[in-house]
Amino acid sequence: MIELRNPRAFFEPLCVGAPRPAVAVSAEPSRMIHFFDPGNERMRAKLPDLARRADVLLGNLEDAVPADRKDAARAGLVEACRSGALDGARVWCRINALDSPWVLDDVTTLVTEAGAHLEVLMVPKVEGPRDVHFLDRLLAHLEARAGLTHQIGLHAIVETALGVTNLEAIAASSPRMQGMSFGPADLAASRRMRTLRPGGPHPGYRTIDDADPAARTSVVQDLWHASIVRMVDACAAFGLLPFYGPFGDIADPEGCEVQFRAAAVLGCVGAWSLHPSQIDIARRVFTPPADEVAAARRVLDALPDGSGVRMIDGRMTDDASWKQCRAMVAFADRAAERDARIAEDTLTGAAT
Ligand code: GLV
Ligand code: MG
Repeated sequence: MIELRNPRAFFEPLCVGAPRPAVAVSAEPSRMIHFFDPGNERMRAKLPDLARRADVLLGNLEDAVPADRKDAARAGLVEACRSGALDGARVWCRINALDSPWVLDDVTTLVTEAGAHLEVLMVPKVEGPRDVHFLDRLLAHLEARAGLTHQIGLHAIVETALGVTNLEAIAASSPRMQGMSFGPADLAASRRMRTLRPGGPHPGYRTIDDADPAARTSVVQDLWHASIVRMVDACAAFGLLPFYGPFGDIADPEGCEVQFRAAAVLGCVGAWSLHPSQIDIARRVFTPPADEVAAARRVLDALPDGSGVRMIDGRMTDDASWKQCRAMVAFADRAAERDARIAEDTLTGAAT
């Protein structure tokens, strides 16, 4: 049986009156997806400030929101969108899992009451294309009903063994797919991993060299590497953006920075921030460093159309390096624009 849609219809809306899927995902910087609990009033008061600082603000309705506060969180997010508290921010929402009793209300309420403000829905525990297809059609109907002119993107959290197994099929499942995040906490539970430090290293996961036992050195290895690499490949192959997920130990900024940096070097474009202190860590890590951007500009100046091969800064530089440099410079320019806007808004905000 052929599962794919007719390729000629791939970008057609899934129901009459729904907006068309975007052909490319947004290239705006999404270096940090800052999580907030929309049911918490104290937190809601801080939103205008966070909206100025974070690239993306995400109202979290899933884990960390207790069952008896799910309705308040959902209503709080609608209210935050409508009140203007999130103005200027790109707004995402993490809905509850597809087998939970809350998800239907999450999706219907958010799209029909605040859909115009929502860029992306983050979906936990996605395990295969069928999960995406279920939401894809439902969202098309709700978007049509709400008269939306933009399609709301879908972002899958890869956090179960089956989700990791089906990464590529999930990435290819719909043009509505915007990206993926790696969820080490649930993944550790799903795999029965013996670690309670999701996202960070574990002292027991290490290797030794094969020298004389008396002189052996031993290093800790990265537990998450293999799956993150697969996620990055699946996203790159199908035009989605890959993100690292949470680093839960808020009191360990160094550990957070190391974890985020490893993800950035592999190709992730951003990470979650669970506390305002992680916003600046993510900004620092996921913005290309100034010396690398300057080196990339030298390559573009020396090889304006990417053809040929030259020794630049002592390195052989050809078409492949030129493509890398072009992508880095384009992103660095966007990030610089965004940061200049943040600095300006912060000044204006501070003055008001
Ligand atoms: C995130 O949701 C995780 O489970 O790590
Ligand atoms: Mg999770």
